[in-house]
Amino acid sequence: MKFLVFAGSTRRQSFNRRLAAVAAQMGRDMGAQVTLLELADFDIPLYNADLEAAGTPPDVIRLKDMLDAHPAWVICSPEYNGSYTGLLKNTIDWASSPVAGHPVWHDATRPFAGKVVGMLSASNGALGGLRSQGHLAPLLVNLQCWLAPRNFALSQAGSAFDAQGQLIDAGQADRVRGVVEQVLWAARRLHGAP
Ligand code: FNR
Repeated sequence: MKFLVFAGSTRRQSFNRRLAAVAAQMGRDMGAQVTLLELADFDIPLYNADLEAAGTPPDVIRLKDMLDAHPAWVICSPEYNGSYTGLLKNTIDWASSPVAGHPVWHDATRPFAGKVVGMLSASNGALGGLRSQGHLAPLLVNLQCWLAPRNFALSQAGSAFDAQGQLIDAGQADRVRGVVEQVLWAARRLHGAP
């Protein structure tokens, strides 16, 4: 099972990037073929239809390819003002915008439709970024993703990781593992992959 994990932050010390690394390792331990995607590796401007009309940026096509190649995803969503980040929205907007005349990417929802997605979030606050998930969920469902019923929001994230980037609390690690397990379980059933 090809499993994609990414965070909606490019901050060097990002809690959500750290949580994504934890989820990715759990996926590897479960035998998945894991891609830990870094949005910083994609040169994607702020969405503008005039810019798009002049030609979809090559990294948007690379992102669409990457999303589409993975039936199972986990997104680690930071919370800004009770919602997900502009970076995550911009990334999803570009990835879901049809490329006129393109043999594959004329289909807007193609990178998203049928993907099984688990949501995680991390914040130093008490709610762990949970409200960002509440906003992200309908967006993903609208794009025809299958959302895993399990989710997890890591609160007090500033003291949750050890120096090696592992979650200190075993109960929190179990919650993350539960999401990864469910995503891989459902993706195998929907996509018939081993
Ligand atoms: C935040 N932050 C924040 N945290 C939270 O729990 N709820 C919130 O509503 C907000 N709002 C908010 C707005 C803006 C503009 C910023 C810049 C930040 C704090 C935010 O969650 C924190 O910076 C996290 O560390 C961001 O995630 P990463 O980069 O650590 O993954």
